[in-house]
Amino acid sequence: MKIAPENMTIRTRVISTDPAAVEQIIISSGFFRPDEVPVAVELVQEGFDKGTDSGYEYVFIEVDGRTVAYACFGLIPCTLFSYDLYWIATHEDFRGKGLGKIVLLEVEKAVAKLGGKTIYIETSCLPIYEPTRAFYLKNEYLEKARFEDFYNDGDDKVVYVKRVTGDR
Ligand SMILES: CC(C)(COP(=O)(O)OP(=O)(O)OC[C@H]1O[C@@H](n2cnc3c(N)ncnc32)[C@H](O)[C@@H]1OP(=O)(O)O)[C@@H](O)C(=O)NCCC(=O)NCCS
Repeated sequence: MKIAPENMTIRTRVISTDPAAVEQIIISSGFFRPDEVPVAVELVQEGFDKGTDSGYEYVFIEVDGRTVAYACFGLIPCTLFSYDLYWIATHEDFRGKGLGKIVLLEVEKAVAKLGGKTIYIETSCLPIYEPTRAFYLKNEYLEKARFEDFYNDGDDKVVYVKRVTGDR
């Protein structure tokens, strides 16, 4: 069942409890290797410590005061209008309730507002990521590239792209 909008708060500012909340979200998903967890947490800590100087942007969703979904994205260095979605995840207890879609739409709105034109997302071709790839396709991201054996033998990198502005 979808989460009712009145129980939901969307924010872009990082607060002190976010690194711990993101750690829980990432671990709960069961998708990431143990060495990836601190990488996600550090990116959020950096946003808290440095604000916009971190070079990263964030979207968080709280449900009844608990942070349960988030995304981290940013302008790709040495590009003018191209953004990378570095992380997106919904806490396992809240998956499939429409929060990931809201986070992604908020990211797209924020990128367009920042003057960005295109969002790039990289993911793995492994079967465990099938729902994730379905999620991107559903949200109108197009598969634009595939790099064979990128992460490991038989583990290709798949790159999805979406234009968030009409101009070219
Ligand atoms: C991918 C992820 C962020 C999606 O978030 P979510 O909150 O579960 O997604 P939503 O409930 O908003 O789903 C949005 C749409 O995507 C589609 N979708 C979501 N999960 C899907 C699945 N398992 N299979 C097929 N489609 C799916 C749904 O059709 C849904 O559309 P709807 O509006 O018609 O119901 C979340 O499942 C997750 O955290 N996965 C593990 C971590 C991960 O893979 N992150 C990305 C790599 S960094």
